[in-house]
Amino acid sequence: NWTTGNVIDEQVAAIRERVGTKRAICGLSGGVDSAVAAALVQKAIGSQLTCVYVDHGLMRKGETEQVEKDFVAATGANLKVVDASERFLDALAGVSDPETKRKIIGREFIRVFEQAQLEILQEDGPEVAFLVQGTLYPDVVESGGGTGTANIKSHHNVGGLPDDIEFELIEPLRQLFKDEVRMVGSELGLPDEIVQRQPFPGPGLGIRIVGEVTKDRLDLLREADAIAREELTAAGLDREIWQCPVVLLADVRSVGVQGDGRTYGHPIVLRPVSSEDAMTADWTRMPYEVLAKISTRITNEVADVNRVVLDVTSKPPGTIEWE
Ligand code: XMP
Repeated sequence: NWTTGNVIDEQVAAIRERVGTKRAICGLSGGVDSAVAAALVQKAIGSQLTCVYVDHGLMRKGETEQVEKDFVAATGANLKVVDASERFLDALAGVSDPETKRKIIGREFIRVFEQAQLEILQEDGPEVAFLVQGTLYPDVVESGGGTGTANIKSHHNVGGLPDDIEFELIEPLRQLFKDEVRMVGSELGLPDEIVQRQPFPGPGLGIRIVGEVTKDRLDLLREADAIAREELTAAGLDREIWQCPVVLLADVRSVGVQGDGRTYGHPIVLRPVSSEDAMTADWTRMPYEVLAKISTRITNEVADVNRVVLDVTSKPPGTIEWE
């Protein structure tokens, strides 16, 4: 009979047995799955686990701090944070095409993560033989059930390492569905802000700025997004809404009036959707009062934004994200 307690006990015993005295690495994305996988492995092997968090500078307000402070406080895990935001901004300079942005962000992410792995490998201590991944049951089914190893190639000019380092994978969530992962996470003491988090794309705010990604635009979008999230949560809509991308139309300007002056600012799009699995979605019929509050606050509090619009398109034909 399935209980979160049983799942945790079984996995902890199996991971302990498998890892022995060796070490493991786990990448944290800020999402639910990697956080719960890491917490489970941390419970099993403690300081033999090192977690890595790459800050690409594309996270929402407070999310990096959530990993750095709340995750560490809840689990006691060793965490290596790599601030790579400048590097990502440089790589994204001048790029507007959505798929090109995704490729650049993915490529830089892998490079920075592998560099961090190499640094951990070079530390004194037992062999680092394992890589932890938050693969869920639906991912296993989708990818045909395979499991195995992960390579990192030493194209980094870091001396003294073999050409190819192979990790064995630890995937403690392979038999679980999302709701079960959330239960396991709560049982392990992770806070609701982490365990109940709505989906957020890997490329982050980089694909919620329609146009080139710059630091100023990111800062602006982070403020608008934080206001929308705060009001949606305050209105008790976090369950009803699957996710609500907040999108900056950075290359669009429209005329507005504020105080006794004419403005020429950017629109922010709210994209609240209801969905079961993100494959299809409908726009959420949310209360006008909440929309009004978000609109008033964003236009009052975020410089350079003079208009808030609501996306009323289902998926299909629209995707959830704008890029
Ligand atoms: P779309 O926009 O395709 O999104 O309707 C479906 C779900 O996937 C998320 N999404 C992404 N997640 N990397 C990710 O990790 C991506 O490049 C990406 N693009 C979209 C989106 O937030 C939604 O939950």
